[in-house]
Amino acid sequence: MKLIEDLNWRYATKKYSNQTVSDENVALILESIRLTATSLGLQPFKIFQIDQPELRMQLKSAAYNQSQLVDASHVLVFAVWTQVTEEMIDDYLNLIANTRGTSLDTLQGFKKSISGFIGNKNQSDIIKWASNQAYIALGKAMTMAATLRVDSTPMEGFDPAKVNEILDLPTKNLHAAVILTLGYRDAEIDPLANAQKVRRPIHQIFEKI
Ligand SMILES: Cc1cc2nc3c(=O)[nH]c(=O)nc-3n(C[C@H](O)[C@H](O)[C@H](O)COP(=O)(O)O)c2cc1C
Repeated sequence: MKLIEDLNWRYATKKYSNQTVSDENVALILESIRLTATSLGLQPFKIFQIDQPELRMQLKSAAYNQSQLVDASHVLVFAVWTQVTEEMIDDYLNLIANTRGTSLDTLQGFKKSISGFIGNKNQSDIIKWASNQAYIALGKAMTMAATLRVDSTPMEGFDPAKVNEILDLPTKNLHAAVILTLGYRDAEIDPLANAQKVRRPIHQIFEKI
């Protein structure tokens, strides 16, 4: 099974070579993020591709000096919504109506359910809920990358407050949830490149009841 082979091939890369991921492959990885299922379909995140070397250096120091942030071909910061306003809900409903050629009137019940769901949440609840969605997207991107034989590193080893400040996220009502770096492993210097994958056995993880 090709996908299982790909998942065995991937690992959280520590040392990248200086090879660049092609625009075509990056576009496919981004599309896998865009196609991710999300709660209510709201896609409550924005992904920043960080190209500026100076910003990458700052991110590295906000991430306990993890070298992937400067060495990887691409750095994606998954920033999540910190609020869901009525305007954002209306934008989404308009998108549904325009895409599917339906009237907004038929979506009023759905609007009520979204507002009811969101209305009970404070800012930290929204960030938590939105982060859950971002992590699903993160998983998709890692899997897509693996199928393309592009290496990646999921990263939450960083100080979110610092990353928020570096990227000026709070003024955009966003919060840094997780980072994904993309590139190609340097198998000669990455001690994990040829290491056995460590996973708990099936019986410890799954149980039929
Ligand atoms: C949400 C998340 C956050 C992670 N954060 C980091 C990180 O900050 N730095 C890092 O080198 N690896 C990070 N990892 C990688 C894990 O340590 C790695 O996935 C785990 O040890 C399993 O190994 P494998 O993915 O190489 O098979 C993270 C993984 C996940 C899923």
